[in-house]
Amino acid sequence: MAPLSELPAATAGGDELPFLRTAVPGPTSRRATERLERVECPAFGQRRRDRQEKSGAEMAPIVLGWGKGSNLVDVDGNRFVDLCAGFGSVLLGHGDKAVARAIEGQSERLMQGLGDVYGSDAKVALLERLSQLHPAPGAQVLLAQSGSDAVTAAIKTAVLATGRPGVLAFEGAYHGLGYGPLPACGLRESYRAPFAAQLSPHVRFAPYPRGEGDLDRALDAVEAALRLGEVGAVLVEPVLGRGGCVVPPDAFLPRLCELAHRHGALVVADEIWTGLGRAGSPLRSLAIGAKVDVLCLGKGLGGGLPISACIAGPDVMGAWARGGEVVHTSTHAGAPLACAVALATLEAVRSRKLPDRAREVGARVIATLREDLRDVDAVVEVRGVGLMIGIELATPELGLAAMRGLLESGFVTITGGARGEVLTLTPALTISEELFSAVGPALRRVIGA
Ligand SMILES: Cc1ncc(COP(=O)(O)O)c(C=O)c1O
Repeated sequence: MAPLSELPAATAGGDELPFLRTAVPGPTSRRATERLERVECPAFGQRRRDRQEKSGAEMAPIVLGWGKGSNLVDVDGNRFVDLCAGFGSVLLGHGDKAVARAIEGQSERLMQGLGDVYGSDAKVALLERLSQLHPAPGAQVLLAQSGSDAVTAAIKTAVLATGRPGVLAFEGAYHGLGYGPLPACGLRESYRAPFAAQLSPHVRFAPYPRGEGDLDRALDAVEAALRLGEVGAVLVEPVLGRGGCVVPPDAFLPRLCELAHRHGALVVADEIWTGLGRAGSPLRSLAIGAKVDVLCLGKGLGGGLPISACIAGPDVMGAWARGGEVVHTSTHAGAPLACAVALATLEAVRSRKLPDRAREVGARVIATLREDLRDVDAVVEVRGVGLMIGIELATPELGLAAMRGLLESGFVTITGGARGEVLTLTPALTISEELFSAVGPALRRVIGA
């Protein structure tokens, strides 16, 4: 395959409108998918077939070859606008120079070290930086590799610090599919059901407030669960991400923290999606004044490489120093390459003021989308904060049809929400406002006015 620069359809700038050379998917994507389906676990092909049956829309995927900024190019040379950015993980856009330089520099020095036995200078620098993100003086960090792994580390931390096994989670929330967070997955019963016999029975759910009107009911349910005295961790997303970009009332998280603390529980803020500028502030929970105890970061932290972190004050994280070899670690945790890229990403997010940019651009794009889609019957609501925007459609079938129609028009999106009824837009924080805004008219064409 030709490198990006030789592709006629590719873009040098990374901020270009779609250019489709073939029908989507093209023949090369189709052939590559056939090969993939022969060797990949069948869960994913089956999901595509189920979706196809449900929506009536063809779900054959494209296969990606290249990325630059907010453009993706598939193996047929079709150029797309990327409104997903690797499930929100490519904060700086594809092929960002700061990330590429960090990878090059660190890979020439040391790619893999000896994790928690002999650290590396890159790991020392990253942990010092991450510690400063937490408001507690002397905050300490447990590195992990995926979001699910960071949440597992947080749940373990809370058990050690409180001595209580219980977790209070929220309906509609998603924290990953490993066995730590899976029992707390309020998004979809089908993720938990086949494994129920192996999951922790100490998880309770409360409703997630979608507006001022549900706030008291949600907090009453929280308090009722906390009164039982078993809960050590209240696990919460500051904004529901996979749950459909649901922004709760600002008072929710601060009041949740007060309640949890009154009942001896810790609040774990899962900022894996909202953090590092995505929701328009460096950390959403802190920006709205919540006194959370444990922070989980992932997704964008690694600039595309897998690294995540669980951060807590020394009073909480200190619970790990109990002797008897109690640790949470893995072979690649704290690998120098990922640490160097994470440091470069954090610095780029800060120096380019991307949280402020996300907040401002996001607010304007939401307003533009509302205007563009105001008389489209299929659209229930446009909502979100920062560059985490959801367009709720009337049915899950419409969600899939919209996602498909947009793909065939050159825009990559995914669906979220409990039933898949929310088109979810989480582009790179560097995307141009003009390019992002092009999705409104495209969606109008796809689902009709
Ligand atoms: C809020 C939140 N927490 C945790 C996770 C799990 O992260 P990962 O997929 O890296 O395990 C996700 C993934 O989408 C997420 O959105």
